[in-house]
Amino acid sequence: MQPLIAPSLLAANFGHLDADIEMINKSMADWLHLDIMDGNFVPNLSFGFPVLDAIAKKCEKPLDVHLMISDPDYYIERFRDSGSSILTVHYEAVDHLHSTVIRIRSLGMKAGVSINPHTPVSHLEEILPYLDLVLIMTVNPGFGGQEFIRSSYDKIRKLKTLIYQTGSAALIQVDGGVDLQNASSLVKAGVDVLVAGTTIFGSSNPAETITTLKNCNKNLA
Ligand code: DX5
Ligand code: ZN
Repeated sequence: MQPLIAPSLLAANFGHLDADIEMINKSMADWLHLDIMDGNFVPNLSFGFPVLDAIAKKCEKPLDVHLMISDPDYYIERFRDSGSSILTVHYEAVDHLHSTVIRIRSLGMKAGVSINPHTPVSHLEEILPYLDLVLIMTVNPGFGGQEFIRSSYDKIRKLKTLIYQTGSAALIQVDGGVDLQNASSLVKAGVDVLVAGTTIFGSSNPAETITTLKNCNKNLA
């Protein structure tokens, strides 16, 4: 199976976002991954609604919005109004996850939950049947260009089993340090959606790199 590819705009050229979004529109990318950081949940800031609204006007691919913010409940409707198709909140940032997830879905978006590297996948057991996506952070959230945490493979395999056992239809997404070397092993371990920032936007031909990632599984049995 070919993975879904979600380029992370964080690594794009923010002086020429138009050109990068145009490239995404024409590429084999499935979603556009957008990282929202609040300087509180993570030690960094990214961008907010004015930028998101402008991106939504240009982008023809579904917007996969990754909220690295404390108390995301305040903004869920606003993200829907900004054109988010998939809205992912962090397990570590929400008190009443079930209610948050139900609200995201009731507003017509797909609901994702992300876990930091230190959070075991077993913590998701009860919520899994309500999820469309689980995002396993394969770096500590907040910055692009970090090194992939190798113990993530174990988490992916455990999550795959848990998804099967709970009858969940959730996709497994990984984010952080995904590159042309580890992409196929990640898919082999059970990943459905690859997020990649530096690997795509730092390459000399980002559209071609997206195609390479999309086909990374081709030679696997
Ligand atoms: C990090 C973000 C990622 C980031 C990935 O907190 O969630 O989406 O852009 O960047 P790379 O692919 O460069 O590790
Ligand atoms: Zn992300």
